[in-house]
Amino acid sequence: MRSSSRVLPLGVLTALLLSQVCSGIKWLALSHTSVHVNQTQHCKLLPGLVSSQAQLCRTNVELMQTIIQAAREVKKTCQKTFADMRWNCSSIDIPVDVQKYRPDLDRGTREAAFVYALSAATLSHTIARACTSGDLRLCSCGPIPGEVLEPGYRWGGCADNLHYGLLMGSKFSDAHMKMKRSGSHANKLMHLHNSEVGRQVLKEAVVMKCKCHGVSGSCSIRTCWKGLQDLKEIAMELKNKYLSATKVVYRPMGTRKQLVPKDIDIRPVRENELLYMQSSPDFCTKNEKQGSVGTQDRQCNKTSSGSDSCDLMCCGRGYNPYTEKVVERCHCKYHWCCYVTCKKCEKIVERYVCK
Ligand SMILES: *[C@@H]1O[C@H](CO)[C@@H](O)[C@H](O)[C@H]1NC(C)=O
Ligand SMILES: *[C@@H]1O[C@H](CO)[C@@H](O)[C@H](O)[C@H]1NC(C)=O
Ligand SMILES: *[C@@H]1O[C@H](CO)[C@@H](O)[C@H](O)[C@H]1NC(C)=O
Repeated sequence: MRSSSRVLPLGVLTALLLSQVCSGIKWLALSHTSVHVNQTQHCKLLPGLVSSQAQLCRTNVELMQTIIQAAREVKKTCQKTFADMRWNCSSIDIPVDVQKYRPDLDRGTREAAFVYALSAATLSHTIARACTSGDLRLCSCGPIPGEVLEPGYRWGGCADNLHYGLLMGSKFSDAHMKMKRSGSHANKLMHLHNSEVGRQVLKEAVVMKCKCHGVSGSCSIRTCWKGLQDLKEIAMELKNKYLSATKVVYRPMGTRKQLVPKDIDIRPVRENELLYMQSSPDFCTKNEKQGSVGTQDRQCNKTSSGSDSCDLMCCGRGYNPYTEKVVERCHCKYHWCCYVTCKKCEKIVERYVCK
């Protein structure tokens, strides 16, 4: 009896909290827009922007197409990165007219932590690349590094403008979390932290890329520049951090309240770990309240031993086989000079979906 009388207030409290948590990634709704933003008036047609972001839109109209592109990249990359997991990032794709995300992203879960980090990294990545490709008037190639290269190598080409990407990306994606009245302090701290982890991974994804020059491809001289790794790789790194994310609580530590790891070892949170406050369900069965769509009808892999194996994906419920016809290139022949012809072969393959 006692416990049932507690249900209501708790529910109301949670609902109040929920309505405010997720707005930091609302801008991902931009992935749905068909508006081609090239005028200030277009800013008010865009879904998902909080007031400070709408302000940024008006003062940086030129940047908006790139931000829209970034929102699409986040969605695509998240779903690809989690295609082999029970939680497959489908809830990132909310329709524009829906006010809220599903609870898997609306609460401070591990999944939300990943999406915040990926969003921040992707936004800065996309802007940095747009500078390089000449899509933006306000920025161009990154600076030429001061390091001295080995003989045979020299700086050239166009570096990805990570500095500008980080500057404008964090301005835009953190705008909401830095506002005074936008959800609880604990949630804001957590989202900002996770976004920063995303940008940190991006900063570490700078690699040297080189191109060969010289007589008939002899590569006697190479021009090199600092470029960013592809998003796929950055997302994989963040997925690893997702798998080892740290559960935190918000409590006094020293003079202020802070996020601290929930387990017993007393230490401050690390700069490179993703943080979450709410445990996630196992995502095996459909549960709207917890934001789980379940894994029924998901494809699984009978020979895999990873998270996409039929055992793990189907949570022990078993699976149904079906056959699919796939068309492949086959009997390829090389013709002098220089082309290849192939035939098309049909092949029947067996696939499996979870019961
Ligand atoms: C804005 O974009 C639209 C759609 O691409 C285009 O038709 C229009 O000419 C553009 N306007 C300006 C001022 O560039
Ligand atoms: C994710 O899983 C759900 C539930 O099985 C499915 O309906 C959806 O199509 C999947 N989404 C992607 C992007 O694979
Ligand atoms: C299933 O998993 C195996 C082993 O990891 C892999 O070689 C194979 O390509 C996968 N099959 C499909 C259809 O994804």
